[in-house]
Formats: sequence, C-alpha cells, structure tokens
Amino acid sequence: MTSVATGLPRRARERLGPEHATEFLARLTRILPDATRTLDALYGSRTDAQALLHTLVDDALDHAAARDPALRRLDEARESDPGWFQDARMIGYVCYADRFAGTLTGVGEHLDHLAELGVTYLHLMPLLQPRAGESDGGYAVADYDTVDPRLGTTADLTALADKLHSRGMVLCIDMVLNHTAREHEWAREAAAGEPGKRAFYRIFPDRTEPDAFEQTLPEIFPALAPGNFTYDVEAGGWVWTTFHDFQWDLDYSNPDVFRAMLATMLRLANRGVDVLRLDAVPFLWKRLGTDCQNQPEAHLLLQAFRAFTRLAAPGLLLKAEAMVEPEILATYLGAQDVYHPECDLAYDNQLMVMLWSAMATGDARLATQALARRPPAPDPAAWVTYVRCHDDIGWAVSDVDALAAGMSGPEHRRWLSEFYTGSTPDSFADGEVFQGHRGGASPVSGTLASLCGVGAALAGEDDAALRLALRRLETMYSVVFSFGGIPLIYMGDELAMLNDRTAVHEDNRWLHRPPMDWVLAAYRHDAGSVPGRAHVALRRLAIARASQPSLGSTAPTTVLDTGEPQLLVYLRGRPRERPVLAVVNMSVAPASMDTATIGSAGITTPVHLHSTTGSLDITAGRLELPGCGFCWLGERPT
Ligand code: GLC
Repeated sequence: MTSVATGLPRRARERLGPEHATEFLARLTRILPDATRTLDALYGSRTDAQALLHTLVDDALDHAAARDPALRRLDEARESDPGWFQDARMIGYVCYADRFAGTLTGVGEHLDHLAELGVTYLHLMPLLQPRAGESDGGYAVADYDTVDPRLGTTADLTALADKLHSRGMVLCIDMVLNHTAREHEWAREAAAGEPGKRAFYRIFPDRTEPDAFEQTLPEIFPALAPGNFTYDVEAGGWVWTTFHDFQWDLDYSNPDVFRAMLATMLRLANRGVDVLRLDAVPFLWKRLGTDCQNQPEAHLLLQAFRAFTRLAAPGLLLKAEAMVEPEILATYLGAQDVYHPECDLAYDNQLMVMLWSAMATGDARLATQALARRPPAPDPAAWVTYVRCHDDIGWAVSDVDALAAGMSGPEHRRWLSEFYTGSTPDSFADGEVFQGHRGGASPVSGTLASLCGVGAALAGEDDAALRLALRRLETMYSVVFSFGGIPLIYMGDELAMLNDRTAVHEDNRWLHRPPMDWVLAAYRHDAGSVPGRAHVALRRLAIARASQPSLGSTAPTTVLDTGEPQLLVYLRGRPRERPVLAVVNMSVAPASMDTATIGSAGITTPVHLHSTTGSLDITAGRLELPGCGFCWLGERPT
C-alpha cells in the first residue's frame, strides 16, 4: 500500500491543486480498506492486485481531475452530509425521455410538471446509444459515451443535469452493467477474434460448458429469449446471453472489464449524473452449479465500484436493481453478516409485492408479518419505494412468509397472477401475463391504474368502483410515500393512465409504458376528472410527506401487529421525535383500530396529518378507515 502513497500525493497535487489533493487523499484513506479487500478477493489469484489497485487509483485521479468545479461543490456538500438523499423532500419520478417529452431538451422544458408533484429526483430510463432495432427498451447499449441521437447529445445530457441541479433536483440514469449490446465495439472486436476483447465476454467453442451451466440456470425470458447462450457465427462460439441473444454478458472475472466499466461510470458521473441505476446486478458473477445470481463476488464487485466511484466522484450514488428473494434484498445495501458499504439505494421489491398481494386479498397479515421481520436498510443506505416500474411484476412472496401467514407460497403466487390478469371472479384488475402462461405464477404487465381497477370501472361506468379504484391507487402510493425510502412515481400514474393497448409488441411490458398523454395532463387540475383526482392525490401526498421529517429515509420503520387482519400499520421515527403512525386499510370494506394502539406506539396526543377522508375519524375509541383508505397521524406539537 505504501507504493500507492509513493508519488501519488505529488501527482494528486499536480492534477487537482493542493486543496482538492488533500481531499482526494483523505478519501483514498477511507476507501482503501474496501478497495484492497474487494480487489484481493476478486482478482488476487489471477493478477497482481496491487498493480491493479494502483491503476484504478490513477484512473480515479484522472476522473477527479476532469470533474467540473460545480460538481465538485456538490461533492463537498454531499460528503459533509452523507444522508443528503434521505430527506423527506426527496421524491422521485421515472420516465422514458422520449415518451415523456421527445428529447432531453424537451424533458428540461417539462420540469414544472415534476416540480408540481414535489419531485426532486428524476430517473430517466435508458438513454445511451442502443443497438439499432430491438434493444430491450434501451438495455442493450452499443455506446456508453454517446446519448441516443434520437434523444439528443451528451451536451444535452449535461445541460439537463445542470438545469435539474439549479432547481435542487438530481438526475438518475441507467447503467447497464451486466451486458453490452452485440453491436458494442468490444463485442464486435471480440467476435472478430481480438483476444483482449474476446476475454471481455464468455464465449465457448462448443456446448460442453454451456450445457453444464444450463443444468442449474433459470431462464429469464423463457418466451422471448429461451436459454442462456447464443451461437454467434462470426464469433464462432456460444456466447453467454442471460437476457436477449443481442445482450452479451460481460466477464467480470477479467479485471479489465471492471476497469473499463468503472471508467464508463465515472465519465457519466462527470457529465452531471447523480445516481446510476445499476441494472441486473445479481447476474454479474457466474459459478458452475449455481443459478449464477447473487454470488458473493457480485457483492464484492459492487463494493469495489462503490469504493472507487466514491474516490473520484463522491457525490455519485449507486442504486441496485436486484429483483431477488425478500430474504436477500438488503444484502445489496451492504446488510451482510459484516456491513460493507455497497449500493446506496436498492428497489424495495418486497414492499411492492406485499402491497399488490394485500390489495388483492384485502388482508394485510402476510404483509405485516413479512415486513415486520426483515432487517432495516443499513444507514446511510436507503430503499427506493415504488408500486410499479417499467418491468413486469414478479410475485416475490417467499414460501417462508406465505407459510407464516397460513398460505402456500406456490398457490398464492399463482393466484396473484390470475387475480391481476383478471382471471378470478372477484378481480378488479386488467393486467396481462408477461411471458409464461395463464394458470402459472407468471409475472404480470399492466399500469398501476389498470391493475387497480380504474379501466374496468370506467368501462362499466361504475362510479362506486371508480372511487374505490382511485382510492386504491392513492392508498398504494400513500405507503410508497411513507414506508421508508425514496418514493418513485412512475410516469402516468399521476394521471391514472391506463394500459396502452396500441403497443403491439412481442414484449408486453410496453403495455404499461405508454407515452405521456399531455391532453390528459391538461385535466390535472380538474378535480372532477380521473386524471385530476389522481393528480391531486399524489400532490397532497408529496406535500404531507415533505412536511414530516420522520417520513424521510433515516427514521426507523416499525411494523405493528394490531390483530386487525385488514390493516397494515407502521410507525415511522422515534418517540419524542415527532413520529408518524400510518394506518392502511387493505380491504374494500371499512375497518377500524383500537385507539389504544396509537398510545402504545408512543403517540399520546394524536393529530391528523393526512388521510383519505381529510380528518381523524375516531368513534367510541376506534379509529375508523374507509375501504382502501389510509390515515397518517402524528403527535400534537407542544
Ligand atoms: C433489468 C431491466 C429490464 C431489462 C433487463 C436486462 O431487469 O429492468 O427491463 O430487460 O434488466 O437488461
């Protein structure tokens, strides 16, 4: 390690100037234990890990030197407040730039729409140069240094980031880590036989190894892209392709791949990006005889990425996209036996699935017991909470959780799939099976409004059903806004947009990725219209959340078992620190709760903060909630 120090202070001073050099070296001291531990474990046996460390530190120095002064100022502010992203005012919005506003410049012209919803965090779906033709919604990147020309230029990206920063907003974009497009320069060179680039991928001369791996590998897109390997004529071998045949998995056991992807991430950070959504991270490491997901090395890689990105661009956050079993979700935030900093953010997939499950059954017991027993997000990491995203909803209910709630896991998962595709008699939902088949526990596509029953109610001209469906939408978001983490609004939910049946596509996830309907948006302040009702509901949630520090990400979440099967009840914050109690009725029937629960949660003089009805409805010692209604209450200020 001494040799890292030798010469480095001088180089740092030359590149960064004395003040920033001191900061850089101080950061190096902080990240060094994680950097050396991870590099040794990942690459120690095949390469000189010490030399690799030096190279990566030098790369980080180069990127730190290239960082814009305005970004450096953001870095400094964020370093002095490591929980900067956990504030209750942090509210996210997710959209495709083209579907929202045509181009990146167009997005910049629509920031008022976001500000109106209290949004401070904008996640733009894949926007880097994809391969031509089918690109899995942009998740097959052909060039990480070029913005998709249909959306604009890299200068437009930086201009948008600047504009967001000037309004106190942050920019998140996708970083597709697990694979590149077949058309990426590295893959083209690999196919052409360039040995250095061939070693970036996993290309096998015959079926021997692929067949051995396939024994234990699941299929991710069984209908769209069966199998995990693709024969490539030019490459003359079987290429590892977990997702589509045009998405070539990178081989992270090669340190050159780690180095190249780290540099890619740092270039994006230097363009002004604040958060990288790291795509498909469970798949980064392969091991024969396993499902090649969630391998210990995948975590080490993320920890190493985190260490080196912190060194060069300390204001950058990493967000894990890991749609894994509930038991291991928090490991992507570093919650292992021993805590090691990993991703700063991760999708709370379990909360999402629990909400859908409880809304379908009208019973919160499974959610209550499953959410109560999981570990908290290790501080300073946080969840991002959401009701749905651009992908299908997979029914991640664990067998253990189901059993504890008296259910069979496989049966419940199958039933959820049937329910949300409208195949059960009492279903209000209008989703479609994503891949797979009816009758299986298949994942489901559909917009939030369609899955909540807005479409069915409108079609049946049923006002009561419409009221309930919109309440469902609001109540699901009330949990997303209050359970703990950064809430994400998926574009169109604020207008209760329905499934896009015009999206004729082999991949029916496009059903729930409709283009923004600006005609509908014009009705957003019309309280009598469907978009107006959804919009005001989300606006009010944002205002109520932002005014309650206990609804930020750091405050603990304690799930309470009240013995009322319909109710999901949780306390945010600590007693004496203005905690918030959320009571959510998952059933269509009205429900009530003994007010003694409020006192025993530490709230002595309850005051209404926000609710479906706009008041604290207490009758004969019971807090009353309408069907699919919620209530947030706090302590009266003294
Ligand atoms: C992630 C994305 C998904 C994509 C896959 C492959 O899961 O969310 O849309 O298909 O990765 O990149």
